[in-house]
Amino acid sequence: MTVADGSERTGDAEARFVWDYARTDERLRALYERGKAAQWNATTDIDWAAGVGTPAQAGLLGPDLPMGRDASPVPPERWAGFQWEFHSWMTSQFLHGEQGALLATGRLVALAPDLDAKFYAAAQAADEARHVEAYARYVDLLGNGYPINPSLRRMLDTVVSESRWDIVFLGMQIIVEGLALAAFRLEHTRSFDPVIAQITRLVAKDEARHVAFGLVALRNVYGELTSGERAEREEFVKEAALLMSRRFRLEEIWERLDVDVRAGTDYALRDQKMIDFRRLMFTKIVTSLAGVGLLTPGVRAHLEQLQLLRTVSRR
Ligand SMILES: [Fe+2]
Ligand SMILES: [Fe+2]
Repeated sequence: MTVADGSERTGDAEARFVWDYARTDERLRALYERGKAAQWNATTDIDWAAGVGTPAQAGLLGPDLPMGRDASPVPPERWAGFQWEFHSWMTSQFLHGEQGALLATGRLVALAPDLDAKFYAAAQAADEARHVEAYARYVDLLGNGYPINPSLRRMLDTVVSESRWDIVFLGMQIIVEGLALAAFRLEHTRSFDPVIAQITRLVAKDEARHVAFGLVALRNVYGELTSGERAEREEFVKEAALLMSRRFRLEEIWERLDVDVRAGTDYALRDQKMIDFRRLMFTKIVTSLAGVGLLTPGVRAHLEQLQLLRTVSRR
């Protein structure tokens, strides 16, 4: 079936051919060129011999956690252990999120409606393979990996099974990668571990380009949808924000530390430093949603209710 933009869908709408090889989108093409020039090699560009952090270093050298100690259910003598678990958990979730990005960009090659977007998505898939490679090696060296957080799993499942191309972009490039970009930038300035600092610095540069790709690809999409179609995207954003903020309840860490899970999640939900941390994680997402025209009053109210907007007055 040929659709209005000239691309052609296969029978089950899971892939689109584009027969107009001449039409180019200058901004996407420029990003694709930058992506090709910026390739790095996880095997040789990271000094793996510098050694990964240890539990003792996490406590002694690590930056303090984005959580206040006063109301914490973690006893003071176990705070260093908590720092180690938090670092292990964060880097494990980076790894699982990167695999989600790899699968999602593979789908974007098939689903994107124009050739430049397919080219860029293919280059990004190579970036994501490298990110998975680097984090997998790192988490293996740490020796304290965590399985995927259930909320992140739901988010990734939703994105990789979606066949509306703009929702794949929205979920992966704007939301999952927007949060990852904020987290990576924080991590490489805070980390006690030279290997993870190198990985996150290199990965963050790629992710900034990936988020820019999402913004360019979606820049003219949401103004042209029907109100029903827009409402579906708004609901998707609301659900995604809920899932992405829920992952920071840290249930898996409380379980591993033998802290009462209810007390731990309650603390993660209410602690002011943790609220500020989640807001920081969402800053790029919020500006990107505004950029593509989806920071609607309904979405804004939902983000405010989840305490994810930095513009609201604090305390
Ligand atoms: Fe990535
Ligand atoms: Fe990415």
